[in-house]
Amino acid sequence: MRVESTINAVRQRLCAGNIVAFTGAGISAESHVPTFRGTDGLWRNYSPESLATAEAFLSDPRLVWEWYDWLRGLIHAAEPNPGHLALAEIQKRSPERFTLITQNIDGLHQRAASRDVVKLHGDIWRLRCITCGREGRNDQVHMKHLPPLCRCGGTLRPAIVWFGEMLPEDEWIRAVKAAQSAKIFLVIGTSALVYPAAGLVRIAHESGSQVVIVNPDPTPADELARWLLRGTAGDILPRLI
Ligand code: OAD
Repeated sequence: MRVESTINAVRQRLCAGNIVAFTGAGISAESHVPTFRGTDGLWRNYSPESLATAEAFLSDPRLVWEWYDWLRGLIHAAEPNPGHLALAEIQKRSPERFTLITQNIDGLHQRAASRDVVKLHGDIWRLRCITCGREGRNDQVHMKHLPPLCRCGGTLRPAIVWFGEMLPEDEWIRAVKAAQSAKIFLVIGTSALVYPAAGLVRIAHESGSQVVIVNPDPTPADELARWLLRGTAGDILPRLI
């Protein structure tokens, strides 16, 4: 009953002012894409230092690619879930008032028909040459050659943000502007531990947004929340429409 009344309160506020949804790996959990830090999280079984840094890639590109090729296979087999679909529906109803910012690299928001997604951590379906910088889409599952090579002969890497790397500047600027002008800032399925992305919650809060957290577990961002919705994205988000 308490969750229901919070859902009603948030739903009413979605009608007034700009809405920002800020998502993390938890929104894809119900699509069977593992999160990073949960009980079965990817970083519980694999070390980020050996797979998600530029240093690791330069020292063993094939090993790093084997892991990302496996992850691409998992994501390819996944389908958007009701949480992704609900966000696409909210955007469809109020396109000019809605911004979706994601830390996810899986592309499931786009497959659920979300548009103009701000991708803070890049996209696992795009590859970038470490020699000439050329970037393009690649949907191959599984890849024929590891590591894949560019036309120039250079090695291609996933166009994602690894630990120690900068976020894409234009995406970050869009994200900060959206956070500053949000009336409602929905924080969905993120542990809110990875900066600078997690800093958007404070930026939104200090700019006067009402922060709503959708997560079955506590996070450090909870202290900034006006509304806490303890539950899964696939359950809660469709009820906000
Ligand atoms: P985490 O794995 O750190 O956190 C996932 C969050 O989702 C946790 O707080 C869970 O409680 C929550 N969660 C789990 N199932 C859920 C569900 N069904 N509905 C809603 N929430 C659920 O993932 P992120 O916060 O996204 O970086 O991690 C941030 C970044 O760290 C990622 O973008 C990734 C990683 O290293 C890159 O890929 C560059």
